[in-house]
Amino acid sequence: MDIYDGPLVQTTETCLAGLKKLFRTSHQPYIYAANGHGAWDAALSNTLSVGDRVLVLESGLFGTAWGEAAKTMGLHVETLTGDWSKPVDPDALEEALQKDSSHSIKAVLVVQVDTASGVWNDIERLRRAIDAAGHPALFMVDTIASLGCMPFKMDEWGVDVALTGSQKGLMCPPGLSFVAAGPRAREAHVSAGLRSNYMDWTFRDGPVHYHKYCGTPPEHLLFAFKAALELIFDEGLEQVWHRHALLAKATRQAIDVWGRAGAMHIMVEDPAARCNSVTVVKATDWEAAPLREFTQNICGVTIGGTIGDGVGEGFRIGHMGHVSAAMLLGTLASVETGFEKLGIPHEKGGVTAAMATLAKAV
Ligand SMILES: Cc1ncc(COP(=O)(O)O)c(C=O)c1O
Repeated sequence: MDIYDGPLVQTTETCLAGLKKLFRTSHQPYIYAANGHGAWDAALSNTLSVGDRVLVLESGLFGTAWGEAAKTMGLHVETLTGDWSKPVDPDALEEALQKDSSHSIKAVLVVQVDTASGVWNDIERLRRAIDAAGHPALFMVDTIASLGCMPFKMDEWGVDVALTGSQKGLMCPPGLSFVAAGPRAREAHVSAGLRSNYMDWTFRDGPVHYHKYCGTPPEHLLFAFKAALELIFDEGLEQVWHRHALLAKATRQAIDVWGRAGAMHIMVEDPAARCNSVTVVKATDWEAAPLREFTQNICGVTIGGTIGDGVGEGFRIGHMGHVSAAMLLGTLASVETGFEKLGIPHEKGGVTAAMATLAKAV
């Protein structure tokens, strides 16, 4: 294809317009031939300088991993430590920012959904905490495991930089990531010392289509993303959020029933802080590996292992993106069959409870 003119340029325009709708922003999105780690780098390098202080909000693995990336770029990283079973505490954030009376913290980094813990952070509420502290730090939000799964409203919630990846709620192969920059982030960009040629927003704003990707466009991934956008907008973004909410509720219902035997529970304590894209199950005194092998090798469905602090101590059921009730019920039934086969203590009827939840809801 011509990478300077014609249909590929139109594909880029469709993708950028779709991203604005997904992020709920009127501001400029950028497309990177990179995974989520690349988007983390892009957000930081375009807005910050070596030695800047950033505050990372912990609620699982990924906020702190973003902080680790920031450290290697020469940023001074501080962490508001948190518990993996709870969302970030807005009051603690407000207090931390109030202590920074000289406003030397330049950015606050948080994930909306942490894929390792299943925590959902209330971004709107965290924005209010930053405002209550009267702090000017840039608010940067990773929506890698939430965009296209749960409501996100960049402009309405006052998010300065939002980023995501192609491979989760957006249903594409891995390899693309997306960053949207609000006006305060653009302002910081002007004097950001960490800017690099590949990530640079100004270069990507250049007049030639080739500039948008700082080189050859990742055209096959763009075709996939364009197709995914069509699926999402044909179904309706709000309907997509609703589908995720129902499937997540059914999953949690099944786990609550299984857990009555005392051998497992959902990692996140507060039902209101559980995300709709993945459910993390903590196992009490049993190894999840044989269960995962059973579902994968015998039933043909891969369930995730736990990662980070609780590695090997449970399993994760992903219910994001291209997922239907049939796929979810098949997954839950495979898990319950595995419990039965392997003698893992559980109360029977988790799948029946999930079915009842769905029947009532639709
Ligand atoms: C919330 C979140 N942020 C960041 C990442 C890192 O993305 P990637 O693996 O594409 O680099 C992941 C990956 O699972 C994630 O779930």
